[in-house]
Amino acid sequence: MGEHAGLDYLSIRSLRKIYPKTSAPAVNDVNLDVRRGDLVALLGPSGCGKTTTLRMVAGLLEPSSGEIFVDGSDVVSTPVHKRGMGMVFQSYALFPHLTVEENVAFGLQMHRVPRGEISARVSQALDNVQLGHLAKRKPAALSGGQQQRVALARALVIQPTLLLLDEPLSNLDAKLREAMRKEIRAIQQESGTTTLFVTHDQDEALDMADRIAILNNGVIEQYDSPSAIYENPATRFVANFVGKANFIDVETRSSPSGGKYSVESALFGKLTVRGAPGIDASAALVVRPHRVSVAAKDERAGSLPSARARVRATSYTGNVRSYDLMLESGELMRADQLSAPDEQFRIGDEAYVSFEPDDAYLVSEC
Ligand SMILES: Nc1ncnc2c1ncn2[C@@H]1O[C@H](COP(=O)(O)OP(=O)(O)OP(=O)(O)O)[C@@H](O)[C@H]1O
Ligand SMILES: [Mg+2]
Repeated sequence: MGEHAGLDYLSIRSLRKIYPKTSAPAVNDVNLDVRRGDLVALLGPSGCGKTTTLRMVAGLLEPSSGEIFVDGSDVVSTPVHKRGMGMVFQSYALFPHLTVEENVAFGLQMHRVPRGEISARVSQALDNVQLGHLAKRKPAALSGGQQQRVALARALVIQPTLLLLDEPLSNLDAKLREAMRKEIRAIQQESGTTTLFVTHDQDEALDMADRIAILNNGVIEQYDSPSAIYENPATRFVANFVGKANFIDVETRSSPSGGKYSVESALFGKLTVRGAPGIDASAALVVRPHRVSVAAKDERAGSLPSARARVRATSYTGNVRSYDLMLESGELMRADQLSAPDEQFRIGDEAYVSFEPDDAYLVSEC
């Protein structure tokens, strides 16, 4: 129906929320299109408006202004129970007095699904999250990860029009979290359920999402595929929030020709680099730590941008050895070496850092 029918299943237009008795909007002007069957991660720091956005989509919170289209229809005035959405909250919010299977059956009973069909769908949903054997338990007798999976089964069993997940893995340990990521993604893809997934964990977003929306102060700063968010960040905020980043202050000398900018850095000199569109004088170069090389001698001089530095700190985490290097300008730069068990430099050593200009990316300061 209408102009929003196409590929996008969920379309959010100029969505805004100002809570009573507050001055700054919690959600300022959110626009987002989610393709049918996609999982989109809403990623951003604490307090940026993720839960507020999700609750407006669910119908639990009334927008101050803006529109929300699902499959072409504006749902803003549709009550929550008629939207047919499944939601997993930041806390799992299971019913403590009901068993696992009764928890999962609850939504189907509300929708007056016939009893025989309920039991078939509940056992299928529990099998999907590998909890069939715990159907008769109460939530208090389950681990956090198991409760999490009950909440997920409860949201999925109603075959929701949209699946809304609010940091569903935040209380799990690292191993279980990773296993659950794969499980949620597999179930979501198999069922083709369009999903909005709120997280402040960049790894989770990169790992699971078809596209990522980076939310900052109630506004989406960038909406792109995981690799585009990481490789071509639109702003300094995005580059800093997703992955580790070195920033080199530069002056932009000329606007892009052939998609490249001419810039000048005090230490690294004149460079031709790729960058986000529409950048003016105030900009920074992003170089990811694993793309910075460190050498004892300035062997790169002349061929690559390089600068003298002093090693300030080193760290080792098994797969990566990192050096924090202080440049002569006083700026710090981090270099990550993969699979480098032996320490090459010690604190206080002099070293030269360099990078390929094609591995740098120009971003706006805000
Ligand atoms: N009921 C409320 N009344 C007033 N302000 C609120 C209310 N709920 C949230 N806020 C404010 O709105 C802003 C956005 O909150 P929200 O819960 O959407 O953030 P979030 O991105 O989900 O954060 P987190 O990652 O910590 O869950 C915050 O500044 C918060 O303090
Ligand atoms: Mg939240």
